[in-house]
Amino acid sequence: MGISLTRLDANDPDDGAELSAFLTANGFPFHVRAHPTTAQVAHDLRGGVWTGDEVESYWIDDDDEGRIGVVRLDDVADATAMVDLRLAERARGRGRGAPVLRAATDQVFSAHPAVIRFEGQTRVDNLAMRRVFEQCGWVQEAHYRNGWPVAGAEPVASVAYSVLRRDWAAGTTTPVPRGPAVTLSGELRCADAAQAERVRAHLDEHVALTRAEPGCLSFEVSPTDDELVWRVAERFVDEAAFDAHQRRVAASAWGRETAGIERSYVIRGRARDVEALVDAAWAAEQHLLDPSVRADPHEVGRLLDPSFVEFGQSGRRWTRDEIVAALQEEPGTDPLPSLSEKEHRVLGPDTVLLTYLLRFEDRLSRRSSLWRCDPAPRCLFHQGTPVG
Ligand SMILES: CC(C)(COP(=O)(O)OP(=O)(O)OC[C@H]1O[C@@H](n2cnc3c(N)ncnc32)[C@H](O)[C@@H]1OP(=O)(O)O)[C@@H](O)C(=O)NCCC(=O)NCCS
Repeated sequence: MGISLTRLDANDPDDGAELSAFLTANGFPFHVRAHPTTAQVAHDLRGGVWTGDEVESYWIDDDDEGRIGVVRLDDVADATAMVDLRLAERARGRGRGAPVLRAATDQVFSAHPAVIRFEGQTRVDNLAMRRVFEQCGWVQEAHYRNGWPVAGAEPVASVAYSVLRRDWAAGTTTPVPRGPAVTLSGELRCADAAQAERVRAHLDEHVALTRAEPGCLSFEVSPTDDELVWRVAERFVDEAAFDAHQRRVAASAWGRETAGIERSYVIRGRARDVEALVDAAWAAEQHLLDPSVRADPHEVGRLLDPSFVEFGQSGRRWTRDEIVAALQEEPGTDPLPSLSEKEHRVLGPDTVLLTYLLRFEDRLSRRSSLWRCDPAPRCLFHQGTPVG
């Protein structure tokens, strides 16, 4: 079963007539227009829907069965080209879709250097087309709720898949990020010249293999003035890609040869790091409410950022120094302030907003605190509003 694509010129009367016959003789249940009429097809042909500056169409020719369908490539002058693939009813259900999509992908990337991604959208329930996208290594990028109009009925969802030029060229599949990017930065510190030699011997291969990982966004290992120390900066699309990198490295020659060398790394973006960030902020908040801490100006000063501002219950604006002094005078007496309705929002890699209801010495107030937790928790802003 060989598939070839034959250029279709919709302005040519023979091609136009053949296309019209094909589109009106077959049903396309997952297209917005399932049964186009001859008049509608003629209108589209005149309107440049099938052939134009940015549109190319091809007959799909099967070595054994002849002409089995048509594929349209839209927006071929843009960075993102789009596909519309239609097999004749008699050719469906027999595994033709995937080789045709591969041929269309080869055509678009070979003939149009500006195209860096090739995209297709279809109805969420067009399972054959979705499977064809997956068989060809395309990746689902979007799910548009109510995105596909249906004549006389509620719209249904549509889905978008794409393949990147670089994946097509390398035969890889880059996953779509499902969470925040994970970054690692720090230093690789050798204890002696023998360790440094092992790094030098394996580094080039390690860098090349890591950069070839589909989830790697960037990977830099640079020498420093100290010949025993390298600076490391890594960025992966998400936590799954970062974990896959760790597994590959552990089993690699680099992993084995450099296992004993000291690493001083900071990793950001992993779910467990986010949990640790939130836990650290709550622990610091609780600590700051402890009367014995509040009475200690050194400890309060350590927990408040130099730029700290508080909007107090009376509406007064307090600076860090003013709060440190006031708490020393009146640290409070309730040994167990109680927090309820606790909520948090992570606002950045190091920053978290806490809100809660506080019962402190029989007074009830709503509190919000903004904490930056790198390297240690420091409160940037606090506000308290009395309840009732
Ligand atoms: C969509 C289309 C291109 C698919 O090509 P095809 O060659 O008919 O696809 P197949 O029927 O061989 O199915 C492809 C895969 O989907 C699976 N599939 C098909 N229908 C399915 C269903 N209802 N549920 C689950 N899987 C299904 C098949 O089992 C096959 O997977 P497998 O190879 O792992 O077994 C073709 O049917 C077509 O042109 N349809 C009309 C136009 C259209 O809808 N175009 C899409 C617009 S972009």
